Amino acid sequence: MNTTTNREWWKEAAVYQIYPRSFADSDGDGVGDLRGIVDRIDYLDRLGVDVVWICPVYDSPNADMGYDIRDYRTIMDEMGTMADWDELLAELHDRDMRLLMDLVVNHTSDEHEWFQESRDLDGGKDDWYIWREGSPEEPPNNWISLFGGPAWTYDEVREAWYLHLFDEKQPDLNWENPDVRDAIYDMMNFWLEKGIDGFRMDAISCISKPPGLPDADTGEDWFDMDLYFNGPRIHEFMREMAAETFENYDVMLIGETPGADPEEAKKYYEDGVDMVVHFDHMDVTYGPGGKWSPDYVGMETLASAGDDELDAMLNTMDLADLQAAIRYWDEGVGDEWNCLYMGSHDQTRAVSRFGDDRQYRRESAKLVATFLLSQRATPFLYQGDELGMTNADWDSADDIRDVEARGQVEMLMADHDVPYETIAPFVRNRSRDNARTPMQWDDGENAGFTDGDPWIQVNDNYPEINAAEALDDSDSIYHYYRRLLAFRRESDVLVYGDTEYVLPDETYPNVWAHRRTLDGESVLVVLNWQGEERTLDTDWVDAPVLFGNYAASERDGATLRPYEARILDRSE
Ligand code: NOJ
Repeated sequence: MNTTTNREWWKEAAVYQIYPRSFADSDGDGVGDLRGIVDRIDYLDRLGVDVVWICPVYDSPNADMGYDIRDYRTIMDEMGTMADWDELLAELHDRDMRLLMDLVVNHTSDEHEWFQESRDLDGGKDDWYIWREGSPEEPPNNWISLFGGPAWTYDEVREAWYLHLFDEKQPDLNWENPDVRDAIYDMMNFWLEKGIDGFRMDAISCISKPPGLPDADTGEDWFDMDLYFNGPRIHEFMREMAAETFENYDVMLIGETPGADPEEAKKYYEDGVDMVVHFDHMDVTYGPGGKWSPDYVGMETLASAGDDELDAMLNTMDLADLQAAIRYWDEGVGDEWNCLYMGSHDQTRAVSRFGDDRQYRRESAKLVATFLLSQRATPFLYQGDELGMTNADWDSADDIRDVEARGQVEMLMADHDVPYETIAPFVRNRSRDNARTPMQWDDGENAGFTDGDPWIQVNDNYPEINAAEALDDSDSIYHYYRRLLAFRRESDVLVYGDTEYVLPDETYPNVWAHRRTLDGESVLVVLNWQGEERTLDTDWVDAPVLFGNYAASERDGATLRPYEARILDRSE
């Protein structure tokens, strides 16, 4: 189908994700804050994004940087005040931009008062979390946390185990308990009433647990986490949530649904979710064994190979795999909708992962932008990707802030008996901290992010890669995004068109092409996804170029330059 009859504002919108801690610090405490965002709204407006999603800014002890919430209705001190938040919403709305809040309801912080009360059997909230009695020596089942290590912690106060699918400071709420659900819906309505434009629902597929919490299947080097996701009551909970909260508002809902395939995603759509966050296209750059397994490279290579070589090995991608992942979701959801991102606060930097952040940083970042903004999906831009910000070097384990990376690095060092230096290249290509280094605003101290000591190291390359430089340079990655966003906004075919997947094939394994078609209009997107020139059959490129990352004078007919991207007019 795919006609424009199913128009929705959130399909046409481009979302910009802000990691507030690392965006802009207005008060010199080294941590980004709401006022910092308010001060930079014009930068976002000029870029041309429509929706801003901010990662959690609620009161939190920051074990997982805000994804461990201590109080859902209070702004974290470091981030400012509720008055700052109100101003942020008003300033965005004044510019016709919208605001999405992160909704983290699979777990709270262990410092949330609900958990504190739950530790006391007589506190009235004894079953608000998932507790099991038993010997302190033996956890209730074999589950491991999504961050590594056991998923259970023994609480000395209550003398019982509690479940945490993430960090031990993130105990899972017991969604079986209707009082818990009511308290969550109340909180959601509090924010909806304040006028927000939607939620990004964190780990929402985890909230319903399998009855009896059975052991997961496991083998020598694998562990089946499917049990954690899309549990038996998930859609009942989602429908109840919809009826009690978001169904009554015109909002955009993005479900982060680990473990969901397109069939499962459709059930979330029936529940009222507009799009789900999927991960398959992110997995294509990992080796066998997944994100944190370096075995396919080997410790000796990690210890001895040069940076360029390691970065390439740790981000190898078969373009056909990327296409299979995109296609799986695009075709899998049918007439429903997807979102797409190439970077986020949970991923490494898009240009380092999918492009070449050394020799062809500018060209390949623009190619990634062309890819992202030409799919049938709401694009999510992650802060700094519009500048082509890159992964960083993590010279010392003490510099690591990410709870996931810290745990994994400890395990890798212990399992392989190697010093941190051996693992450091792996951290440069895996840790979420790479996306969390401060936004690079200018070439001044700390990249213009803060007057104080930044909470996380600034990437050394800020003197060359920064927003001030990008704004001044009409050929910058920023301006490319800005022009392409404007182009997409005017182009129904890029938003709503059907997609036909054309390349790669055996002849052109490193060239991507897809066609978008709508009501007689047709464009062909051709991306030379490599640092070498490639001459195509002229049929491919014999059409007017509507958009591209090389100037007309630099284009060379049917020969695509390294990382060249073209959007061609193929309308009859
Ligand atoms: C997904 C979030 O994106 C991630 O940053 C967080 O660590 C986990 N959910 C747990 O809340």
